[in-house]
Formats: sequence, C-alpha cells, structure tokens
Amino acid sequence: MDGTGESSIPVRPQARTGQTEDTRLALYGGSPVRRAPWPTYDKGAVFVHPEDEEAAMRAVRSHLYFRYDHRAQHETECGALEEELRRYFGSRHALAVSSGTAALALAIMAAGIPPGSLVACPGFTFVATPSAIVLAGCTPLLVEVDENLHMDLDDLRRRWTPEIKAILVVHMRGFAADMEALARFAAEMGVPVIEDAVPALGAELRGRKLGTFGLAGAFSTQSDKSLNCGEGGFLVTDDSVLFARAVVLSGAYEGRFRRHFPDGDPPIGTDLDLPLLSFRMDEIRAALLRSELERLPVRLERFRANYSYVAAALAGVPGIEIRQPVAPGAYLGEAFIFRVPGGDAEWFARALRHEGIDARNLGSDEDVNVRVFWNWRFMFGGLTAEQVRALLPATTRHLREAVDVPLSSSLSPDDCDQLIRAVRKVAEAARPAAGPPPEALAVPAVETAGTAGPLPVPDTVPPAGASAVPGGDTAGVARAGRR
Ligand SMILES: Cc1ncc(COP(=O)(O)O)c(C=O)c1O
Repeated sequence: MDGTGESSIPVRPQARTGQTEDTRLALYGGSPVRRAPWPTYDKGAVFVHPEDEEAAMRAVRSHLYFRYDHRAQHETECGALEEELRRYFGSRHALAVSSGTAALALAIMAAGIPPGSLVACPGFTFVATPSAIVLAGCTPLLVEVDENLHMDLDDLRRRWTPEIKAILVVHMRGFAADMEALARFAAEMGVPVIEDAVPALGAELRGRKLGTFGLAGAFSTQSDKSLNCGEGGFLVTDDSVLFARAVVLSGAYEGRFRRHFPDGDPPIGTDLDLPLLSFRMDEIRAALLRSELERLPVRLERFRANYSYVAAALAGVPGIEIRQPVAPGAYLGEAFIFRVPGGDAEWFARALRHEGIDARNLGSDEDVNVRVFWNWRFMFGGLTAEQVRALLPATTRHLREAVDVPLSSSLSPDDCDQLIRAVRKVAEAARPAAGPPPEALAVPAVETAGTAGPLPVPDTVPPAGASAVPGGDTAGVARAGRR
C-alpha cells in the first residue's frame, strides 16, 4: 500500500541500472540510464482501476448504450456524469461529447461566432485546436507564444483586427495560460474567450479550475488525459444559451435538449434552427469516466508530486531552462518541458532517448510534430515550411529550443530519478567545460550553436549498435547543420 490507495496500479518492471554510473552518453556507446520503456499511455501506463473496469461492464451489461432513452436524464450514465462534472468544476452546465475537438467546435458554434470569422489561437498547440476552428467554419489567426510557450498577449494585441471574433486560449501541456490578462484584453475588444483546457483537466490557476475562466471550457477524455475513456470529451459553461445550442448541435433531436434543463425551461424554444452533428457521448464511456472521476484527485496529486520532484531536482542545471508557469502551481504536471537556450535541443532530446527517456525536441525537423504550427499545412496553401515559420519567428525559436518529456501519473520514484539522472548526464556532456565525449572527438567538424550560446554540444553519429535502448533511435542522427 502506498498511502494513496493506489496499490492496484500495475507494477512495471524496474529499470536495470548498473552499480556505477557510466558518464559516457548512450548516444556514443555508453550504458543508458534505463532500459525499460519509458511509461506512457500508448504502452499501457494508464490510471485505470478494477472499479473503473467494473463500471464500464455495468453499462455494457445494461444493453442501454445510447444516452437518450426511456430513462430520466439523471438515471443515465451520461446525465449523471454531466451532473458530477458540473459539481467538480462548479459550473452551471456540462455536456459530455465525443471528443475534445468536438467540444471546441461546439463551443465556437454555440457561442454564435459567425462562420468566416477569424478566431485567434496560439502557434503552439495540438493541431486539433486550429482544426476545431476550421470545423466551426472559421479561420485560425495564429499568435506567437513566449519563451515559456504561453500565448503572447503583446503579439495578440499587435495582430488584432476587427475580424477576430473570439480568442481560443490553450493551456498547452497542462500549463495555464495567463487567463486573467487574456480575459481582460478580450473584454476590452468585446469578444469571448474559449478555453482549450484539453491538456489541463483538473489544473488550477490561483485556486480556480482551468476551463472555467472563459465563456466555455473544452476538455478531452482521450487516453492520455486526466480522465481516460479512449475517445471522448466535454464542455463546461455558465452560459445557458450557449449550452442549449451546444446540446442540440451535439445531437439531441426531437426535443431531447429539454432533458438537460430539468429545473426549468430551456432558453431556446426549438431545436429545429440548428443542424445536428452527432457529437454525443455514449453510456459505456460515461460509466468509465464517472468511476475515474472519483479517483481524479489522487491522479492529480501524482502528476503534481512527480512534476515537483523532477523540476526541483533539475532547477539550476546549467544549460537548461525549465518552463515556468504564469503563477505558482499553475500546471497539471503531465509533461516536463525545458529549453536548451542557444544549444541544440534536437541533439539533447536524441541523447535522452538513447538514455531510455521518451524525449522530443518540439521544433525538430527530424519528426513531424503536429503541435507546431508549420506542420498545419492545410492552413497555408502553397507556402513552404520556411515561409510559414517566418510568420511566427519567436514561436519558431522557442519550439526549436524546447525538449518535451511526457510524465505519466504512474511514474515510480525510480522512473523520476532516472529522468533526473539522464537530463543531468546529457546536460553535463553538453557543457563546454566538460568537453565532448571521446567518440565526439573522433569527428572532424563539430559545429556549435554560435559563439554567444552557452551550450555548444557535440554532434556525431553514434558507433554502430549504440542504441541498445528500447525506443532509442539511431535514425536521422546525421544532421544537415545547426540553426
Ligand atoms: C490542446 C489540444 N486540443 C484539443 C485536442 C483534441 O482532443 P481530442 O483528441 O479528444 O479530439 C487535443 C488532443 O490531444 C489537444 O492536445
């Protein structure tokens, strides 16, 4: 028993580490810090308990899978989930839907944003954010993020035009955007703020839950989110008209939207003025989510504990800058992001992968990351990636420097310690004073990131067979040059 009641979390095999630490990077043939796969949702590291499985089976056995049937709203799993979400967020309304993207698009449509409008959103977010804007018939207007990857209000102000009819703020990778400042600006401009709180389910900013600052907050319950039912999402709002319209749009036909207003008349008279988009949630997923919601505080505590432990241990490590929140504690803790200012974040991430840590350079050219705006090609006609990057030069720079490591809530203390050791090991190897590792010395041309940069790093092709780490890569290691 671990004191949290989470003894049923599956035990993963412990990483095998040697007695003495090999300081030689695994990238260059040294021993990796860990050999076990880094725990992530797509490898089964999920926060699902026997009670949750039983809840899903209860719904399966009921044979009532559609959310609107002969039962009263509060007797259905979807209706009960919405009531529980309403209480959890302290919001007047909640609507369970089929995905986070659906929740976002419904929020824009139900807020009455005219099709064809511009909707502002940051250049660092999952591609679903601009996609939801497009789904709602609008056009994304991209805004820079600052060095901590938060939407840059000054840039939004600079780019402002009267065609912008809403601001879609994203709490990307669980870190709160500066909601108070953004909400003040939106009020000044007379447009609503909608929150993409998909990556931040349960996180707070100064004691208030993310997703409850704007006109509406959208969440996902896809597998790597704080609540996981495979696919799904929900919307919270205090605006009864927006809610009623979202209910109809989501697929409540022939008067069924009235069930969502058990205590009085809905603020819209008919459902015939709106199209029906079939974004409903089903009973099986709702049952699973209801059960998981009971243990959400435990899971949030684990995210927070893991994150605080790792961030405290790595604070002050030379050569890296840990992403800073807009206020103390204003993050979920499901990802550890740091920048390698003036250094080579692509190399850093690759070296970490060889040490056995799933790390990704956000702005890498080595993989196609759909969280960076230059890979949203559907938005840019015939522009090249370079031309697109020039539209948001600051965001490009920050993403090029950023390394992203997923932190599952099921990380063990050993996992956290190995992450800490791996980051220190790579940072130490990258320091100019440490000098390049022996293998790197064999490589004739070692470029650096620039004379002013504090962190020139060695770059070389690892010796054959250097990547013994599951998930480590040997592909694409020879790069054309540094930025
Ligand atoms: C920031 C952000 N917005 C929206 C979504 C879309 O959620 P879904 O996959 O449930 O549609 C995601 C998915 O991860 C996301 O990260």
